[in-house]
Amino acid sequence: MNIKDIIGKMTLEEKASLCSGGDAWHTQTISRMHIPALRVSDGPHGLRVQMEGADNLGMQESKTAVCFPAICALAASFDRSVLQSVGDAIGKECRAEGVDIILGPGVNIKRSPLCGRNFEYYSEDPYVSSELAAAYIDGVQKNNVGACIKHFFANNQETRRFSVSAQMDERTAREIYLASFEGAVKKARPWSVMCAYNRINGIYAAENKQYLTDLLRNEWDFEGFVVSDWGAVNDRVPDLEAGLDLEMPPLGDKNDRCIVNAVESGMLEEAVLDRAVGRLLNVVYRCGENRNDLSGFDHEKDHRIAKAVALESVVLLKNENVLPLKKMEKIVVVGEFARNPRYQGGGSSHVNAYRVDAFLECINNGMSTDKGFTFVQGFSIQNDRIDSGLVEEAVSAVQNADKVLVFAGLPERCESEGYDRNHLGLPANQNDLITRLAAVNQNIIVVLHNGAPVEMPWIDSVKAVLETYLCGEAVGAAVRDILYGLANPSGRLPETFPVRLQDTPSYLELFGEGDSLHYREGVFVGYRYYDSREMQVLFPFGHGLSYTEFAYSNLRLERQAGNDCLRVWVDVTNTGQRAGKEVVQLYVRPPKSHMVARPIHELRGFVKELLYPGETKTVEFVLDSRAFAYFNSEIHDWLVESGEYEIQIAKSSQNIVLREKVQIVGRKCNVITLDLNTPLGDILCIEGSVEILKKYGISIEREECRIDNENEKQIQEAHYQYMPLRGRAMQLSDMKAERMLTELRQLL
Ligand code: GLC
Repeated sequence: MNIKDIIGKMTLEEKASLCSGGDAWHTQTISRMHIPALRVSDGPHGLRVQMEGADNLGMQESKTAVCFPAICALAASFDRSVLQSVGDAIGKECRAEGVDIILGPGVNIKRSPLCGRNFEYYSEDPYVSSELAAAYIDGVQKNNVGACIKHFFANNQETRRFSVSAQMDERTAREIYLASFEGAVKKARPWSVMCAYNRINGIYAAENKQYLTDLLRNEWDFEGFVVSDWGAVNDRVPDLEAGLDLEMPPLGDKNDRCIVNAVESGMLEEAVLDRAVGRLLNVVYRCGENRNDLSGFDHEKDHRIAKAVALESVVLLKNENVLPLKKMEKIVVVGEFARNPRYQGGGSSHVNAYRVDAFLECINNGMSTDKGFTFVQGFSIQNDRIDSGLVEEAVSAVQNADKVLVFAGLPERCESEGYDRNHLGLPANQNDLITRLAAVNQNIIVVLHNGAPVEMPWIDSVKAVLETYLCGEAVGAAVRDILYGLANPSGRLPETFPVRLQDTPSYLELFGEGDSLHYREGVFVGYRYYDSREMQVLFPFGHGLSYTEFAYSNLRLERQAGNDCLRVWVDVTNTGQRAGKEVVQLYVRPPKSHMVARPIHELRGFVKELLYPGETKTVEFVLDSRAFAYFNSEIHDWLVESGEYEIQIAKSSQNIVLREKVQIVGRKCNVITLDLNTPLGDILCIEGSVEILKKYGISIEREECRIDNENEKQIQEAHYQYMPLRGRAMQLSDMKAERMLTELRQLL
């Protein structure tokens, strides 16, 4: 199908109509040209296909579909194949339901643990986020269904999300908030990108040519179409020019007419409209091949996938020899989530789940144990109030239990799309109960269901904590298998759990002042902040325990001839008694920078490996120059500083097990812009500069002085280093000075 020919045959009105949806879930049909509509649907962890009525906040009923673990949980698997398998399953469900584009994955960075929508996102780290999102997109698109990576970009809070302006410098945007999209866009090539509601440095994401066109298309070679978040268009014609191709949902034909009028009045070049239409038609015809594949999908099969990936995602945070449970132990189960689990988030990603496995059902009919189970509710999830009757019932029930399972977490009212949390705690009635139970039974095991970190004031009083995040409809069966050792937990935290909210890097700025939101912490997000400040955290990024043990050895590096890659190998051994999976993490620690403040280390590689008892595997990483670079806002490009770096192999960002130093040759010197105001000390670092300075008669001698005083000596030296070149070039004519600067710049 020659897209150009089709466009050539379309009327101006037809072309303009393609730039807005036919309805909330379809693009426009152009019957005269036999152009079909694309069907789109939420959401990242399961299909939300709506038949009658349409809303983009998950209020209206949607068709039954399998609810996979939310992305916050899937990210904890640290396993690309897990994300790929979920993407594949959802892609197949899309084909069965005639959906052409799934509106996911969401990859916004978890700047604050209070963001109500963190459950739908991957990580505080852009590398984890982009790698796992790329795997998900691959999985979806191999079914000839499109993915739609979102919300581009800096949609890191729900507070005032339609109007807030995320104010950040270029380096912060590049190294953190854009980086989360970059890897996925470049590697997996999603068919569409959804722009965010918010503004970035005062310009709406929907109208931001710098990012929608200059970066996304011209630098990252994105070829799909850009769709607005639902209702994110603020001014249709400038948005179209900036690179926003499709408005969803349609607002009548008002904006179509604006486009027609703009072209007819010469305000808008028709080529800009044709460009957007071409991008949409490319995807329309690409999806065409699969539209009649309504073979239906096997809900039970996908439910089994949901359980399998849940087993990979649960994180064992603490275990003082109480897990796995033994069948002969007398167990008391406390908490509503054991009966009605919280397994997904609220809002547009909400799935009408096919079949929910509650833990209690799974242990009553799936697990024969000697002493059975007692269940008590313990607390209400409808409010935070302490119910003394429920508390007394629970405290007396656990008195003689061998072990106690407390199913706790954040009720749906505490976190959702649309609003942010206002504190980092669990509901007061849960914290109170856990503390009271720990006072009468020393074997408390807390099983958490939450889309984002929570404070744990009782952490020292309990023996184990299992973090399930929001683990999908099969969560109860997965938790049963892990608690009883039928499966070995292998999840790792894709975000830091801080001790308290006040410790978080964005705490003072939090959600901004009105619509002005400053990302003053810069690149110091998550572990980049906590580790650079050597802060104590509750559980660090990358942390997670296993029922077996792993040892590391034999770290070796090799520079690859002919390019600037560095190969890294390390051996990992399962030294325990049972099979298990380890997530090998590689961080790079940069040299002390003269140029910018850099995080103490950054994750540049992760691999998950299954190891049997006694088995050793060699894990390999290949690091390219980006692994050592930072983004320099003066040259607007990535830059590698020369110096000594450290390759760190770790079990978490705060548990480094092996280190190896390596010299990296990057930029010859640290000077970026050189003029008469450049400090002399910086210029003298440039190889060959002394000869040029001497050639122009610039003295580089230190002034003679009789200093036997250390303080004065240091003042003198600092003065020598920081003095701008102009201070020693006074005698030069402007022409000679410019000639000297030109020769010096050639050394950079
Ligand atoms: C919502 C969400 C977006 C979703 C869209 C359609 O407002 O921000 O993630 O895909 O609208 O429901």
